[in-house]
Amino acid sequence: MNSIDRLLHEAHLSKDGARRAFLKKAFAGSAALFTLSGAYAELLSRTPSQTEGPYYPDKFPLDTDNDLIVLNDRLTPGIGVVTYLSGRVTDLKGNPVKNATVEIWQCDAEGSYIHSNGSNPSTRKRDNNFQGFGRFLTSANGEYFFRTIKPVPYPGRTPHIHVIVKKGDQRLLTTQCYISGHELNRNDGVLRSISDPIVRELCMVDWLPIADSTAGEYSARFDIVVGQTPEA
Ligand SMILES: [Fe+2]
Repeated sequence: MNSIDRLLHEAHLSKDGARRAFLKKAFAGSAALFTLSGAYAELLSRTPSQTEGPYYPDKFPLDTDNDLIVLNDRLTPGIGVVTYLSGRVTDLKGNPVKNATVEIWQCDAEGSYIHSNGSNPSTRKRDNNFQGFGRFLTSANGEYFFRTIKPVPYPGRTPHIHVIVKKGDQRLLTTQCYISGHELNRNDGVLRSISDPIVRELCMVDWLPIADSTAGEYSARFDIVVGQTPEA
């Protein structure tokens, strides 16, 4: 194993926020990376941007809150593995980005987006109870929180959740997050467009079973580092 592979291997074993801390430590300590300029080192700790893709909603659901499992007051929940997705939005110095809007969207358990052209081309099926899109305004600590489903594969893509961070009308970041260790990650063209495997790791999220959950729910933490603030 070369040193980069070893770092990745160890990063993969570390959990949630610990991974980012580990990577930072790795960058600070790795002889191979000593020669990186300050600007490039900064770029490495920033959450990489990823394409928005074609399915940002062209019409919003009836409800755009942070609970994607339940649409308005419907009794039937969306299908899928319930996941509490949370994280903290910070700038490059670790300062919380408060009152930022975090938007997420993803396909439903049938592999269909709520976008008018987003139904799964191989099945044309939809889960009409899944909200498919949600918004949350970050707290004073930069925290955000969603209840959603564990993402499933969509034809041609590994499972992912799309994420946009905005402050007012200004977009700070457009990205996607992924299930750490998922077998389809290896061949996903969008994910592989992040050429540096260490930077790619910053979009990986661990899906961890919640110990006391009788319903088999998961928690997932995606901390986001934006490279700019509206003031910058
Ligand atoms: Fe997508």
